[in-house]
Amino acid sequence: MLSKSMQESLNNQVKLEAMSSQAYLAMASWAEIQPGLEGVAEYFFLQSEEERIHMLKLMRFINERGGFAIVPTLEQPIVTYKGIKSMFEEFLKHEMIVSDSINDLVDLALKEKDYATHNFLQWYVNEQIEEEKSARILNDKLELIGDDKSGLYLFDRDIMQTRQKKR
Ligand code: FEO
Repeated sequence: MLSKSMQESLNNQVKLEAMSSQAYLAMASWAEIQPGLEGVAEYFFLQSEEERIHMLKLMRFINERGGFAIVPTLEQPIVTYKGIKSMFEEFLKHEMIVSDSINDLVDLALKEKDYATHNFLQWYVNEQIEEEKSARILNDKLELIGDDKSGLYLFDRDIMQTRQKKR
């Protein structure tokens, strides 16, 4: 059985994953209407779906453990970007916030001696290592590319391969 504070914290995480899904959906949509960013758009459409799965996994766990998973109210995410670089910076920033939040949950689980939740959260700990790594690699690549159009062409062409490597 989840404690009240653990249930509340897990529900906050549900909201954060839902916000991630919305934020990445908005990135996908913005990228889709830019010339030549089809690969980036595809990447974020899939990333958005993945975040929804993260959210669902949490909701099912909360209910399974005798709590009540709450579908959150969401604000509109950022829908337009100055450019691809600022969008990927936002992506990394967002993933770092998620990692911090997961770490706080792990901390709480240990404090409460809630080993079932602690065990459940390990999947998220590992997932965040991968997510942050991918976001960092992509930001580094964009830094190298700078304003080079052919570099950007290759970045867009190859971005889906970085996703496949993640799995
Ligand atoms: Fe589910 Fe990308 O954090």
